[in-house]
Amino acid sequence: MNEVHIALDERSYDIHIGKALLSDHSLLTSSLKGRQVVVISNETVAPLYLEQIERALVDYEVHTILLSDGEHTKNLNTYSEIIDQMIAVPCDRRCTIIALGGGVIGDIAGFVAATYQRGIPFVQVPTTLLAQVDSSVGGKTGVNHPVGKNMIGAFHQPQKVITDLDTLSTLDDRQFSAGLAEVIKYGLINDFVFFQWIEQNLEKVMSKDADALTFIISRSCESKRDIVEQDEQEQGVRALLNLGHTFGHAIETATEYVEWLHGEAVALGMVMAADLSRRLGWIDQADCQRLNQVLVAARLPVALRQPIDPVVLRKLMQGDKKVLDGSLRLVLMKSLGEAVIVEDVDNELIMETLQGFAG
Ligand code: NAD
Ligand code: GLY
Repeated sequence: MNEVHIALDERSYDIHIGKALLSDHSLLTSSLKGRQVVVISNETVAPLYLEQIERALVDYEVHTILLSDGEHTKNLNTYSEIIDQMIAVPCDRRCTIIALGGGVIGDIAGFVAATYQRGIPFVQVPTTLLAQVDSSVGGKTGVNHPVGKNMIGAFHQPQKVITDLDTLSTLDDRQFSAGLAEVIKYGLINDFVFFQWIEQNLEKVMSKDADALTFIISRSCESKRDIVEQDEQEQGVRALLNLGHTFGHAIETATEYVEWLHGEAVALGMVMAADLSRRLGWIDQADCQRLNQVLVAARLPVALRQPIDPVVLRKLMQGDKKVLDGSLRLVLMKSLGEAVIVEDVDNELIMETLQGFAG
C-alpha cells in the first residue's frame, strides 16, 4: 500500500492507495468519530462494493443512501433529500459520511458533510480513476446549478481517502480513459518527467497493471497535494489544476453534458490550451503533436465530432469560475511540464484557436 499525506494543519489526512483495501476493516473504521455512519453511493456502485463496506461496519449504526446514477443527481434537490433523510434518523454531529463512488458521489456527499450541522467528518472511497486522481483529493465539494457546474459548494477536507485499485476492474474503458486525461494533466502542469513516463508506459497503464496504477495514482495525488498545500482555497496557484478545464467546461456545456465525459472534455481542452500556447509562441507544433499522440494512445479525443459555434464557446468560457472582475484567466503552457495562469490573452488568438477546433 502507498500513502500520500496531505498536510493542512488540523485538516491533514492520508490517501491510502493499494489493492484489497476495502477488506481492510480497521483502515475504514479507524477514521470514524462516532457510532453513526451514513454511506452515500449510487445504484451502479453499491451492488459492486457496498457489501464490503458494510462488512467492515458491523459494529456501527449504518444508514445507506443510494442515489440514481449520473451527473444529473448532483443538484440541490438531491442534496436536500439526503439532508432530510439524515435529520429523520436523526444523525448527530459525530456521524461520519462515507462517499462510495465516483466524483459525482464524492462531490455531493462531501457537500452534505460540509454543511450538515455546520460540518461533519467524511471519508472518500473513490471508485473511478478520475475520482482517485482528482476529485477525492483537495476538499472541493459541491453541486451543480442549472446555469453551471459546481456553482454551489464548500471546501471540506475528508478524514481519509481509501483508494482500492480493485474497484477499477469493473470500471468501463471509456471512464478509465477519462480519468487518464487528468493524470496526463498533472504531467503537463509541472512534471515533465511524469509526462515522459506516461508516454513510455501507457500500455501497462491501459492494461491496468497494478504497479503502474499505483504509480500514476500516487504521483497524481502528490502533484495535486503539492499545489493544494500551497493554496487550499484557490486564491492563486490552485487554478493551475484547471488546465484544459475552461475550454473543456465550455465544450461540456455546449454539448449539454451528453456527448463528452468530463475527462474527455478536459482532453479536448488541453489540446486547445496547447494550440493557444503555440499561437503565443511558447510551445511548438512538435509539442502539440506529442500531446495529441499521448491522448490518442490513451483513447481520448483530440478533435470535436461536430462543429460548435466559436462565438458560443467563447461566451461560455466567460462564465468560467476563474473569471474575476470580467477578466478571463486561462491556464496555458510555457512548455510541456510548465503551466502558467494568464490574464488578458489577446482575444483574436483565442478566437483563432476556437475557430481551428470548433468552427
Ligand atoms: P461519475 O461519478 O459519474 O462516475 C462515472 C460512472 O462510473 C458512473 O456511471 C458511476 O456510477 C460509474 N462507476 C463508478 N465507479 C465504478 C466502478 N468501480 N465500477 C463500475 N462503474 C463505476 O464520474 P467521475 O468521472 O468519477 O466524476 C465526475 C464528477 O467529478 C463531476 O461531477 C465533476 O464535476 C467532479 N469533479 C470534482 C472534482 C473536485 O475537485 N471535487 C475534480 C474533478 C471532477
Ligand atoms: N480539480 C481542480 C481542483 O481540485 O482544484
